[in-house]
Order: sequence, then structure tokens, then C-alpha cells
Amino acid sequence: MKKRVFSGIQPSGEMHLGNYLGAIKNWVEAQHDNENIFCIVDLHAITVPQDPTTLHRRTRDLAKIYLAAGLDPKRTAIFVQSHIKEHTELAWLFNCVTPLGWASRMTQYKEKSAEKKEQSSVGLLAYPMLMAADILLYQADGVPVGDDQKQHVELTRDIAEKFNREYAPVFKIPEPWIRGEGARIMALDEPTKKMSKSGGPSNAILLLDSPEVIKSRIMKATTDSGRDIKFEAERPGLYNLLTIYQLFSPAGTTQEQIEAHFVGQGYGTLKKELVELVIEGLRPLRENFNQLSADPCYVEDILKDGADRIRPIAETTYKAAKEAMGLG
Ligand code: TRP
Repeated sequence: MKKRVFSGIQPSGEMHLGNYLGAIKNWVEAQHDNENIFCIVDLHAITVPQDPTTLHRRTRDLAKIYLAAGLDPKRTAIFVQSHIKEHTELAWLFNCVTPLGWASRMTQYKEKSAEKKEQSSVGLLAYPMLMAADILLYQADGVPVGDDQKQHVELTRDIAEKFNREYAPVFKIPEPWIRGEGARIMALDEPTKKMSKSGGPSNAILLLDSPEVIKSRIMKATTDSGRDIKFEAERPGLYNLLTIYQLFSPAGTTQEQIEAHFVGQGYGTLKKELVELVIEGLRPLRENFNQLSADPCYVEDILKDGADRIRPIAETTYKAAKEAMGLG
């Protein structure tokens, strides 16, 4: 029996190399091993203010990126969170089951609410219960996420266990599938921080950047005053560039092989080769994306079909949860 996996990305910024190498590329590579449900979590995006027109466009753009990267809509359900109403409905039940202390302890909540304090939305606090609903509605076995989301998946498990114990055994307990360190892509200009949607323009390579922009970002990437090219964690800029190099190399290429390839060479050579590798590595994605953009109806159909296929699972789970709580 294949494992069912659920994961999602927020359409809250332009997609960058970190999203691709850290998440989407792995989903594509593992898509034959599992039964996949990959969501575009627009309801999570609105926990912070979004421009409506931009949010709508980014939701479609993210669907196109999933497809352009190689997710096969025949084996993977690709859908938009707000198209299945049970996400919000189950999230409400979880809001009522989850102690305030559990929610307010979440690191991401503390970080994200630090800036606007009392002006932050209530949704920001409720965010992890919505994420728990995403995962538990489909009785997912595995949740592939970066280590920054591990705490939310653990909270999801706690909520499921509490519900199962106090009401009825409705939910499967999911496992977090945490990506290895290597797949964590750092900011090009400040390699001790994660590459991010909210960082400055020179921190990231966007997936749809032109070859010229890719070249300039890589050539300007922060390194150090060392000479030899080695995977050394204490040289974060170099380590990051080498990690990107490895992830765009043929599967199975080892760190030793890459180090051997660059023996006697300097950072200039590494950067030049990396520019070529990244431009070529992203070329199919960019070309497929442009092709998909020419046919917006196709993308709408994929999203509708994805939601239609999995909605029955969500309905069944939600009905059981509702009944268990005495609603209706
Ligand atoms: N919170 C996740 C993030 O920002 C996105 C997300 C929402 C998610 N629902 C999910 C990830 C369910 C995995 C499973 O990265």
C-alpha cells in the first residue's frame, strides 16, 4: 500500500529556488512512490494582509509551477485549499478542541505576531489548527515539510490524539517527513538566513527569473576569503552554492565528486559553472510555465479536477468529526 502524503505552499510571494529545491523538486521525484495531495494554501496566506488581485494571480501561478516542475496531475491531486470548504469547517472544530496554550506556544506565531502585536489577525493564532485540518481531513500518513514546520505537524498530532481520545477515533496520526539539512537553501546575500519570499531581492533567485538575473545574483553571492572549494558548514556562503550545485547535478552526485571536480579551481569557476547549471536546470520549468500561461482554462480544469477527486475524502472525515462532537 502506498503512503498518502499531504503538503502545501502558501501563494503569498513569488516562488524562489528554496521553494523548488527544498520542496517541489522532492515532491516530483517521490511522486511515484506515494499517493500525493499537494495543496495551494490560500486560506493560510490571508492570515496576513494580501492584495486580492495578486493573491488570485499567485494562486494560479503556484499551480502552474507545480505542473511545470513535473507534478503529474493524473497521479497527484493539485488543488486550492479554499475550494474545499471542509478545511475551514474542521479548523473551527479544532479551534474549539485546542487549548490556547498550545497555539500561543508556536514559534512561528510568536515570530510573525511580534511585529504587529495586537494588530496581528486572530487567524495568525488559528493558523496551526487550519494546518491540522488540512492534514487530518485526508488521513495523511506523511507530511513532507521543512524543519520550520515540524512544530506545526507535532501540534497536528497532539490535536488528533486529543480528539481521538475525547470524542472518537476519527483521525490517523500523521508523521512529519522532515527534509535533510542539505535541502535548506540559504539567502545568497546573507547565507546564515534562509532564502525567503520576504527577504530583499538579492537574497533569492526566483523560479521565473531571466538568465541574466540568475547570472547576476549568483556572481554577486556572498562567499568568504577562502580559496579551496569544499563543503564546509563554517563557510555558509560557499556551502550554500555547493548545495545548489549538488541539487542541480545528476541524481546521486556526491559531495566528494563535486569537491574533486573543483580541485585547484577558485570561486570564480564555481560561480560560472553554477550559473550555467541553474539556468539550464530552471529552463524547462520556465518554458513549461509559459506554455501553461497560454491556456488558463487548462489550469482551472486541473484545479477543479484535483478538488473534485479528493473532496469525498474530506467530506467523509469531516462528517465523522462533526458527529463525534454531537453537532448537527
Ligand atoms: N504552513 C506551511 C508553510 O508555511 C504550509 C502548509 C499549510 C502546510 N498547510 C499545510 C504544509 C499542510 C504541510 C501540510 O510552509
